[in-house]
Amino acid sequence: MTVRALARVNLAAIERNVVRLRRELADGVALCAVVKADGYGHGAVPSARAALAGGAGWLAVAAAEEARALRDAGIEAPVLVMGALSPGELDVALAAGADVVAWDERFVDAVAARGGGAVHVKLDTGMGRLGTRDAGCATRVAEVAAGTDGVRLAGAMTHFATADDRDDPFLAEQLARFRAWVGPLREAHPQIVVHAANSAATLRDAEAHFDLVRTGVAIYGLDPFGEDPAARDLEPALELRSWVAAVKALAPGESVGYGRRFVAREPTHVATVPIGYGDGVRRALTNNADVLVRGARLPLVGTVSMDNVTLDAGTPPAAATGDGAVLIGEQDGERITAEELARRLQTINYEVTCGLPVRVPRAYHRDGEDVP
Ligand SMILES: Cc1ncc(COP(=O)(O)O)c(C=O)c1O
Repeated sequence: MTVRALARVNLAAIERNVVRLRRELADGVALCAVVKADGYGHGAVPSARAALAGGAGWLAVAAAEEARALRDAGIEAPVLVMGALSPGELDVALAAGADVVAWDERFVDAVAARGGGAVHVKLDTGMGRLGTRDAGCATRVAEVAAGTDGVRLAGAMTHFATADDRDDPFLAEQLARFRAWVGPLREAHPQIVVHAANSAATLRDAEAHFDLVRTGVAIYGLDPFGEDPAARDLEPALELRSWVAAVKALAPGESVGYGRRFVAREPTHVATVPIGYGDGVRRALTNNADVLVRGARLPLVGTVSMDNVTLDAGTPPAAATGDGAVLIGEQDGERITAEELARRLQTINYEVTCGLPVRVPRAYHRDGEDVP
């Protein structure tokens, strides 16, 4: 059966991306694979397994339920839940045996009241979201965690706001604030795992590596700087495919799609591909994308609808019913990256893959060999 829209994920690429990222790290520095948001749309469990096979020592998620899903799948690696947790979510995270993030003494008490667990204290060095801005408070939270029965002070962390902008000096400022806090803390508690870097910081500055890096986007072969992943030796793991379901001639003056946003100026052919915004192909790509058919770029013309897009296949038509169509990925040497779509959409590659809904089935393979 031909599937109308399919996201194919190469687990071997994820594994190799992790190996490649680990080459940036000094001996003894661990890699934590961030698999939140269903592995940035790639599938959390298969991505986690591939990352672990590539040498990741930790996994991170944002939500308690995401930790539980990893455990339900039988994954036993250390898991860090990085996000804010409601009391109910804290129950779930601790029951999953995940480490949690604290920046408030009451939260440490809540961990203790639930029978204990491992906490990582977060200093907000400039991201302005979670964590405390007050280094003294962060130290107090750490001391309370270290001194509370059943609670283990497992780590100290921060998160960078501008690591993906190589010209921005703010990373250095955040790093300096973090170092000033974490240095004395580590002296008092040498066992803690100190971590700060996301993918961009991992690739940009070895000073940010500490004991562990938390890499998300790059393990999927997406470039954290929004550039061509190949330039950094990253392999995109995901391709988004569909097929040509109909080809028809279009005479000058005839139009295609809602709102008649494409009107043929000369005789041409329109190829209809049954994938649309209901499959994560955003409507803002109307008259603003290419799709690969037979290894060539065909312009997406007319309005992206919920279930279909239309391509200008020219005359004679460069597409026939049954041809494969690639919206993200490679075909006969031609490539369309998530970064290209992100540029067209004025967003980031993260949002392109996270935006693929459950309607699009995921199929897994290792360099072309199907993985059940
Ligand atoms: C706290 C934290 N650490 C690490 C990451 C991973 O970032 P990236 O995907 O840019 O590597 C994220 C993702 O947003 C995050 O929120």
